[in-house]
Amino acid sequence: MPPAKASAVALGIRRVRFASGTFGMDRARAQGLTRARETSLIRLSSRARTARAPAPSAPQPRDPSLMIRLAKRMADLGTETAFEVLARAKALEAQGRSIVHLQIGEPDFDTPAHVVEAGAQALRNGHTHYTPSPGIPELRDAIAEEMKKTRGLAVARDEVVVTPGGKPILFNVILVLVDPGDEVSYPNPGFPIYESMIRFVGGKPVPQRFDAAKGFELDVDGLIASLNEKTKLLILNSPSNPTGGVIRRAELERIAERVRELPNLVVLSDEIYSRLVYDGEKHFSIATLPGMRERTIILDGFSKTYAMTGWRLGYGVMPADLAKMVAKITTNSTSCTAGFTQMAGVAALRGPQDSAEAMCREFDKRRKIIVDGLNSVKGFHCATPKGAFYAFPDVRGTGRKSKELEGALLDECGVACLSGTSFGASGEGFLRFSYANSVANLEEAIRRLRAYFGTQ
Ligand SMILES: Cc1ncc(COP(=O)(O)O)c(C=O)c1O
Repeated sequence: MPPAKASAVALGIRRVRFASGTFGMDRARAQGLTRARETSLIRLSSRARTARAPAPSAPQPRDPSLMIRLAKRMADLGTETAFEVLARAKALEAQGRSIVHLQIGEPDFDTPAHVVEAGAQALRNGHTHYTPSPGIPELRDAIAEEMKKTRGLAVARDEVVVTPGGKPILFNVILVLVDPGDEVSYPNPGFPIYESMIRFVGGKPVPQRFDAAKGFELDVDGLIASLNEKTKLLILNSPSNPTGGVIRRAELERIAERVRELPNLVVLSDEIYSRLVYDGEKHFSIATLPGMRERTIILDGFSKTYAMTGWRLGYGVMPADLAKMVAKITTNSTSCTAGFTQMAGVAALRGPQDSAEAMCREFDKRRKIIVDGLNSVKGFHCATPKGAFYAFPDVRGTGRKSKELEGALLDECGVACLSGTSFGASGEGFLRFSYANSVANLEEAIRRLRAYFGTQ
């Protein structure tokens, strides 16, 4: 029985169905859509239950005539499987199993104390009301200063849009720019929300390729050859989730040369890991190259740099006209970002940077431990990531599929990681391990992997 049907039956829903008859299960599975489908069914079921309003302890029989049809577009929405593996890992822990969590992309550190205090003080000072959709002036100015400091860019307040996390910048920008049929070049393997959102709006995803043997170097020639008059948006992500690869300045210069030839092409440069680069490398933004500033959106935020994932705070820097449109989507969706969170963001950017720098040094230390450790596991080969906090080993030597390994490692070894296919079809043969975890836990994970696969 297919999983979506199984879950519908388990929930007593037989009549809820997707309006789209064209939903292909194979493609859906590749994108993690199967789970999205189940989630929708589950959410619908609880909504329907609430609407019919019995006490939670006394569920009433469902109205057999009830038939809720989801919008067709929901069939194209993907998801981020990290949250699903986390839920499965937590369920195993609740049964008393020991799990090392290397699946989720979030720093294990606390938000720096002065930032927490600024947020708490802001609450006490009454920053508890709606704020302007594009963000409060103090934070937009602090972000403009940050752009000058980190990228040498002169940015005005009205070129900055603040959002609840960096993710809404992706969501809003794609909604604002991409029409059905427009081509969007995006990294594959890459952050799964790119492909999910491109498909959601009816765009045509055009994958960028990487060379695993060369530390996940971007195939710049392939990318350049794929850009054409129909390409509306080029998404770049450096440092990369999931590979940890970095696109160097010389490569960006070649890409920019081609972009300048295409008057309708806009670049979305996802720089959320910009402060997490190692080996003396310096982050470089394509927006700083001639002619690129006026057609580039920089996405950055606080989640990774300041260990603020749960605060939900991110931003985009873009031409002012575009910023107005992106903020208009915010007005229509979340209205604004919480004021006290934004005040904490001001403290993060303008206050001492020692905690953020110490985190980066610690990630660097762990990076070496995990790369050496993974390379000692039979069937694994791990290139050294240059940025972010992910290792993306090639596991083809084990002779097993990535998704199968993801399940086996969780169930049989107690190591939670993600299948490379969670990041697109070209992630087959790879696993993603987040090393945002303590050295002791990383060493324990390696010990378990060596015990399971053997050593080399
Ligand atoms: C590449 C990339 N972009 C954007 C985001 C969004 O980050 P957030 O919404 O937590 O700020 C993430 C989070 O994992 C990411 O990995």
